[in-house]
Amino acid sequence: MRPYVIIFSTVSIDGRLATKTGYSELSCPYDKQRQHEIRSEVDAVMVGANTVRVDNPSLTVKYSKNRRNPIRVVVTRSFNLDPSYKIFTTPPSTIVYTSNYESEKAEELNRKGVIVRKFLHLDDLLEDLYNNFNIRRLMVEGGGHLIWWFIKDNLYDEIRITISPRIFGNGVSFTQGEGFIGEDSPRLKLIDAKICECGNEVHLTYEKYMK
Ligand SMILES: NC(=O)c1ccc[n+]([C@@H]2O[C@H](COP(=O)([O-])OP(=O)(O)OC[C@H]3O[C@@H](n4cnc5c(N)ncnc54)[C@H](OP(=O)(O)O)[C@@H]3O)[C@@H](O)[C@H]2O)c1
Repeated sequence: MRPYVIIFSTVSIDGRLATKTGYSELSCPYDKQRQHEIRSEVDAVMVGANTVRVDNPSLTVKYSKNRRNPIRVVVTRSFNLDPSYKIFTTPPSTIVYTSNYESEKAEELNRKGVIVRKFLHLDDLLEDLYNNFNIRRLMVEGGGHLIWWFIKDNLYDEIRITISPRIFGNGVSFTQGEGFIGEDSPRLKLIDAKICECGNEVHLTYEKYMK
């Protein structure tokens, strides 16, 4: 069993999560509120290690009436993560999944209350979250490399995407991977489309298209 997985991102109209220099300020206040409301409703929120290295996010709930913070999860192959990042030094709990376990760094993180787990495949990681941490709903916030693996391995249930009226021209795509060949590319079903309260963004909800 694995958690129900919601991928949530805000992209430019050319499908970028960030510019080539890592700038990613795309959300209007209403979009931030939407994102934080979903954060407050899930059991865990996940990002790739690059998002931590570039943005140093806290991934807490700030712009929602319900201030319930989900567990934070970081995925890394290299384990190249500085223990001084906000995600390790501020509450709530954080779990790091790494395929390159280094006991010294793991112990340093453990002393800060961070849980470090070894993993090889995303599906095992999701099973671990479900079975050992009681995670039933997971929000995957990016970046593009992490999202690619979730989509490639068909480990998601819902995609929620806000289109912000910016054009980046280059940078980090919503999915950063080798790409699909053709007919094998996933098909989605549009569940909801709404114009954001700001009047200038669109929020789309998709689920997987089942034939
Ligand atoms: N607009 C938005 O909504 C939004 C949301 C989130 C992030 N962003 C932006 O996106 C950018 C970062 O995106 P990104 O694509 O460069 O990086 P990313 O997806 O955040 O992180 C990539 C890294 O995560 C680890 N990783 C991902 N998938 C893995 C897997 N299946 N197995 C093992 N490790 C895995 C690896 O870490 P190691 O390198 O440590 O091995 C990989 O290099 C930042 O600029 C950030 O600001 C934007």
